[in-house]
Amino acid sequence: MQRHIFSAILFHLLPITIEATRFHNPRFRPESGGILSSGLATLPLQFDLLGSQRNASGFPGNSFWSSSFLHGCDNHDYLVVSHVLTGIDIVPGTNSMYRASVLDITDPSRYAMFEFFSNISSAFPYNGDFNVTLHDYGFSTANPGGDVSKLRTWSQVPGAQFDLQFDLSARVLLDGGLGVFKTGDSTVHEWSMPAGNTTGWLSLNGSKVIIDTEQSLTWYDRQWAGAPRNWTWFELHIDSRNPEVADIPLSIWVWGDHESGIGGVASVREGGVVQSVVPVTLLEPSNRTYTSQETGIVYSLDWVLELADGTAFWISSVRADQELYAPGGIFPTYEGYITVRGTYKGIWEVEGYGLVEISPLTG
Ligand SMILES: *[C@@H]1O[C@H](CO)[C@@H](O)[C@H](O)[C@H]1NC(C)=O
Ligand SMILES: *[C@@H]1O[C@H](CO)[C@@H](O)[C@H](O)[C@H]1NC(C)=O
Ligand SMILES: *[C@@H]1O[C@H](CO)[C@@H](O)[C@H](O)[C@H]1NC(C)=O
Ligand SMILES: *[C@@H]1O[C@H](CO)[C@@H](O)[C@H](O)[C@H]1NC(C)=O
Ligand SMILES: *[C@@H]1O[C@H](CO)[C@@H](O)[C@H](O)[C@H]1NC(C)=O
Ligand SMILES: *[C@@H]1O[C@H](CO)[C@@H](O)[C@H](O)[C@H]1NC(C)=O
Ligand SMILES: *[C@@H]1O[C@H](CO)[C@@H](O)[C@H](O)[C@H]1NC(C)=O
Repeated sequence: MQRHIFSAILFHLLPITIEATRFHNPRFRPESGGILSSGLATLPLQFDLLGSQRNASGFPGNSFWSSSFLHGCDNHDYLVVSHVLTGIDIVPGTNSMYRASVLDITDPSRYAMFEFFSNISSAFPYNGDFNVTLHDYGFSTANPGGDVSKLRTWSQVPGAQFDLQFDLSARVLLDGGLGVFKTGDSTVHEWSMPAGNTTGWLSLNGSKVIIDTEQSLTWYDRQWAGAPRNWTWFELHIDSRNPEVADIPLSIWVWGDHESGIGGVASVREGGVVQSVVPVTLLEPSNRTYTSQETGIVYSLDWVLELADGTAFWISSVRADQELYAPGGIFPTYEGYITVRGTYKGIWEVEGYGLVEISPLTG
């Protein structure tokens, strides 16, 4: 009898096998195996990668940033962005900034964000563990004692609450090929862990949504010492279309303007361990824009992005207002969920998702 009912259900499901396949190959696919791999051992890195997570490397402008692409128990997808920046002097009496946003990707009308300045002595207090713990927000290692394999970020700010833990379980993506590149007068140090296992919960305006770890991931981004004056940055996850093969993560920087000159580099982790560096040949915004009521800044919402290897991407922001700013419109940055489709290396039709960060010129 049970079997009979089961086959009747199966029969009913046949016309929607594509949906069923999606369930088995979720959109957000975490990777396990660890951030470092033997393929990295011979690379001439100029800094101690995980050391940058243990002590502040002595440089100003330390950025600790995560974007979590989450599938919730309510069957909605979410994006949670969390960011701490230390060693800055934007608001007198403060030396750091923390901010976060929560977007319901499935129902993009649901969105919340906050941004605050604070004064902390160090992101590496006590024993050198990375630990920013404030009254309503935190970003730290999950465990004490120099264990950097798992990080935690949480918020108790009303409207945008979450508590996420993620493993540095995906192989690293080194920006600029070795984690260092120059933009104008400054040198950016940056590495990313593109798709770590994530657990925890979030709450957008009330009820708690538990995360499905198997269909969720966190991209962690560690940057210090320098940044361009203004930039548009893309985090992309290109679907490998093969459940056995990890998605392709790209970190794409574009900076400058037409007067001072445009610079751009795509850093791509291919085949798990190869760090490719590909020049950006074009970034063309469309005329779809969002004008912030708070800051007056006009943000582009769609782009054509081309790389020197024949890659062409069409990128689109799913919700117009994804601007984070402190009260009074101070220090705005756009952190938007995007979808992407296009041609990879001139050959493969691809699609994916990710995030655009726009840091505008202000003041
Ligand atoms: C990540 O999660 C998968 C299952 O969801 C598990 O098999 C794997 O061991 C996890 N990796 C780490 C580093 O926790
Ligand atoms: C939160 O709830 C209030 C009251 O129900 C509603 O007005 C607001 O739009 C909600 N915000 C989000 C982000 O869902
Ligand atoms: C900020 O913190 C430093 C110590 O970390 C302290 O010397 C300074 O007085 C603080 N500034 C304010 C405005 O609280
Ligand atoms: C962290 O680095 C600073 C110098 O950059 C040093 O003074 C401090 O002792 C270090 N702390 C630990 C716990 O290693
Ligand atoms: C971080 O600091 C807070 C207090 O400021 C402490 O409760 C917590 O245990 C620390 N976490 C780690 C991982 O050291
Ligand atoms: C930098 O700012 C200028 C002036 O607002 C703008 O024209 C340019 O597009 C920005 N560059 C990038 C890469 O976002
Ligand atoms: C925006 O671009 C579209 C497509 O290129 C075009 O049809 C439309 O006229 C443009 N709108 C404005 C206001 O320029």
